[in-house]
Amino acid sequence: MCGIVGYVGEQHPKEILINGLKKLEYRGYDSSGIALVGDKDIQIIKALGRIVNLEEKLEKSKVVDSHLGIAHTRWATHGGVTEANAHPHRVGKVTLVHNGILENAASLKEDLIKEGVKFNSDTDTEVGAALINKYYDGNPLYAIKKATSKLKGSYAFGVIFDGDPKLYAIRKDSPLIIGYGKDGNYIASDIAAIINYTKEYSLLDEGEIAVLDDEKIEVFSDGKMVTKKKITATITAEDADKCGYDHFMMKEIMEEPKVLANLFERYSDFDKLPDLSKYKEIHIVACGSAMYAGIVGASLIEEKCNIKCYVECASEYRYKKVIYDRKTLVILISQSGETADTIAAMRKAKDEGIETLAVVNVETSTIARECDNALFIGAGVEVAVATTKAYILQVAMLSMLVIRTVNDKKALKEAKKIPGLLNNILEHKDIFEGVGREIYKVRDAFFIGRGIDYAMCMEGSLKLKEISYIHSDAFQAGELKHGTISLIEKGVPVFAIITDENIKDKTESNVVEVKSRDASIYTITNDDTVPNHGFRYVVPKVSPYFQALLLVPVLQLIGYYTARYKGLDIDKPRNLAKSVTVE
Ligand code: F6R
Repeated sequence: MCGIVGYVGEQHPKEILINGLKKLEYRGYDSSGIALVGDKDIQIIKALGRIVNLEEKLEKSKVVDSHLGIAHTRWATHGGVTEANAHPHRVGKVTLVHNGILENAASLKEDLIKEGVKFNSDTDTEVGAALINKYYDGNPLYAIKKATSKLKGSYAFGVIFDGDPKLYAIRKDSPLIIGYGKDGNYIASDIAAIINYTKEYSLLDEGEIAVLDDEKIEVFSDGKMVTKKKITATITAEDADKCGYDHFMMKEIMEEPKVLANLFERYSDFDKLPDLSKYKEIHIVACGSAMYAGIVGASLIEEKCNIKCYVECASEYRYKKVIYDRKTLVILISQSGETADTIAAMRKAKDEGIETLAVVNVETSTIARECDNALFIGAGVEVAVATTKAYILQVAMLSMLVIRTVNDKKALKEAKKIPGLLNNILEHKDIFEGVGREIYKVRDAFFIGRGIDYAMCMEGSLKLKEISYIHSDAFQAGELKHGTISLIEKGVPVFAIITDENIKDKTESNVVEVKSRDASIYTITNDDTVPNHGFRYVVPKVSPYFQALLLVPVLQLIGYYTARYKGLDIDKPRNLAKSVTVE
């Protein structure tokens, strides 16, 4: 989703802001823009597409002398991908960038038009700028407070007022941090954007207004100045670098053994983990891959702990009627900790007085801070839009919760071996390059499996479709006959995942059904007695706690190489955003 970076200080902001935008690219965007405050005027430059286009435009322009600027990557929500809709937006004396969605923008806009305001874009953001301008009578804090009190929805704003050398920021339901530098101060959507300049930052809390100048940052809450807790970032500049890999996605897949070993080590004293047996019911709520990780976990929770476990996508859960048993635990899974639907689902459970537990990567995120308890997976920075190392850790974290609940100490010994096994699979990654080469021209692909294998099929299918743009679906192998088998035709790749000993013969018989309709079969199994119908990859057999983990890199690499053969922008697939901070 949209990215914000702002700077005020001794340096010229241009380079700082462009570098910041590049570090925010992973969030997903389709246009970008920058505003530089000059002596006489504010220079605004916008470009469609990649940030290099903005850089080119800046190079061709006579850039003003400046010490204050804001910049933005836009992921279109209100209004198409046009320069007019790109940020920053300027209305009257106000120039701003925005991340979020102003839900009542349409009605506010009508009123503002009646009052004579002229709009130049289709965005909700311009309405925000117009509203702040309306209330601006020389007092920025008053204007921001008054305008935001009228807004519904989510926003992180970076705001500049004509003739005022300061930078202002406020947020609600969209992330924004303030960074303390040596020769100036910063605002940013996340610390990665400014990590090359400072490691010291604070999280801006909901409703607080930050006022930055080149020497200090003041934060006000309800008109009173507050002292912010400073955080030292643990990420390094290297985290936001490809380190020799062609893509962040490959770098992050290759990091899986290391981060997995760290997670097992961190939670080896498993008594510190929550014991799930005290709950009658568990709801796992998340979005996308995080939800698929939840499905793997739910299967283990039910199988091993005998606790009813439901998995729901957060965008449904937040609006549906949920009949809670008082002894329910709601587990929210999120890499970013900022996914709008997952945050809403968490708040719904909390409002009902139901206990919440986060399985989260970003330790300073909203979900990490608001959940009753949080388990941090420690994936480090994940830059590629498609999640890889965070997904495997989400699955591993749920496995650890199950192991703790059933108090299986033997499993902890086995856990130590898993990173090494994963490493062996990654050492043979060329095998999956071969699969990518074979399938990259196909129109459709299917994944079939049963039980946990089906949960893995869903993730494998999502990985393939989101980065290679090949239509892909996951089916429960036993359901094929009830309609979907009509999609099977000559040469269509069908990936069959077969690791569950109890139902392997059942899935294999479904494989034979699609094979006899001339599908190309790619079997991924942990059992070398499962027939090879052309391609078969055998992962080591381990206990059910860990079996899914060994399938993860296989599925991710198939998606990766397929997209690579298609020559696609693997780290930034079209239309997708890393952190889905709006509904
Ligand atoms: C897919 C992917 C997404 C995320 C989903 C939830 O590769 O990355 O499906 O898993 O958007 O994001 P988080 O985990 O940040 O809540």
